[in-house]
Amino acid sequence: MGETKRRFGILTSGGDAPGMNAAIRAATMVLVAEDCEVVGVESGYQGLVEGWFRPLVPADVASIIRDGGTMLGSARSKAFMTREGRDIARRRLIEQNIEGLLVVGGNGSLTGALRLVDDAERGEFAGTVVGIPASIDNDLGLTGLSIGVDTAMNTIVDAIDKISDTAAAHDRTFIVEVMGRSCGYLAMTAAIAGAADAVLFPEADKTDDEMITSVVDAVVGARRRDRRTRRVIVIKAEGVEMTNDEIKARVDERLIAELGPGSPLIETRVTVLGHVVRGGRPSAFDRLMASRLAHVGVRALLAGESRKMIGWMLPAEIPESVGRRSSHDPYCWIVDLEAVLAETARLLEGTSPLVKWRTQVFRDIERVLAL
Ligand code: F6P
Repeated sequence: MGETKRRFGILTSGGDAPGMNAAIRAATMVLVAEDCEVVGVESGYQGLVEGWFRPLVPADVASIIRDGGTMLGSARSKAFMTREGRDIARRRLIEQNIEGLLVVGGNGSLTGALRLVDDAERGEFAGTVVGIPASIDNDLGLTGLSIGVDTAMNTIVDAIDKISDTAAAHDRTFIVEVMGRSCGYLAMTAAIAGAADAVLFPEADKTDDEMITSVVDAVVGARRRDRRTRRVIVIKAEGVEMTNDEIKARVDERLIAELGPGSPLIETRVTVLGHVVRGGRPSAFDRLMASRLAHVGVRALLAGESRKMIGWMLPAEIPESVGRRSSHDPYCWIVDLEAVLAETARLLEGTSPLVKWRTQVFRDIERVLAL
């Protein structure tokens, strides 16, 4: 009789995010390469409660990396929110002989993962959980990015470009609402990448009056003689409480007062991008990051780790002697040019720790790629 193989589960939960499939694929491939069995849980925690399991082999995931959404389906489960539901879920995992679960999702999903292994209620369930961050909102802590953010940002920028064409043709102002329940990250970054004229997001903590003023200033300012532009784009995060109708009405009223009725500038339109932002083929970066996060997540499970999330950060902290974090943007570092050139030389010679680290990663996954 052959030895029983170690078995691991994967589930995607909460709002889907482009790149989730890349994570499923990478996790499956790495686990199979490590001679383990892989079980996909369909429809997130709902499927865990219902017992919707399916085996996953490399052939199942061969071409999913290109697809948006998640091949396993996702859900926001009410049953799993209850103790009874979680007890059933744990029982199902025991029956399936699943020793560790990779949870791909956002805040609610990772909260669920922790509840699953909560000592106060886990009883005889000895399984482990590791999460990887997936949420287009980029609203998770201790990670620079979450799966889906890059694709969503690209989708928004593409939409802004298209709206800009028609806005410029008609000399109009567009307010473009983008997803982000309680996090304005997508609105902020897409506003920069899409060259918007103003951005409204909850974290700015502006009063309604201040927000209206910033839009009116953007419209009037864009038409200054030295900055004549025929399109004004205002990005608004979904989490801003003021409704779009109210923003439009109040902006138009202020513009009529400032510019006089009949001014061609008073042509505000509103476009809500909604769930369009969550769909579509994942960007190359999301595919890459999701694969890397899933790879490390699976390695953590194999090593017996639990109650962990794999975060996406800079590969290394830059020592103080060489550079400092910008006080204007924590993603940017002000580093000594000489040190840059010295490290560049090490990179090119192959002596930099970064090169060693990169090659080590590829040594780890060589067999996986060839599967
Ligand atoms: O996944 C996050 C998110 O897309 C938020 O940006 C948005 O508010 C919410 O999910 C929408 O959820 P649902 O698809 O359940 O309407």
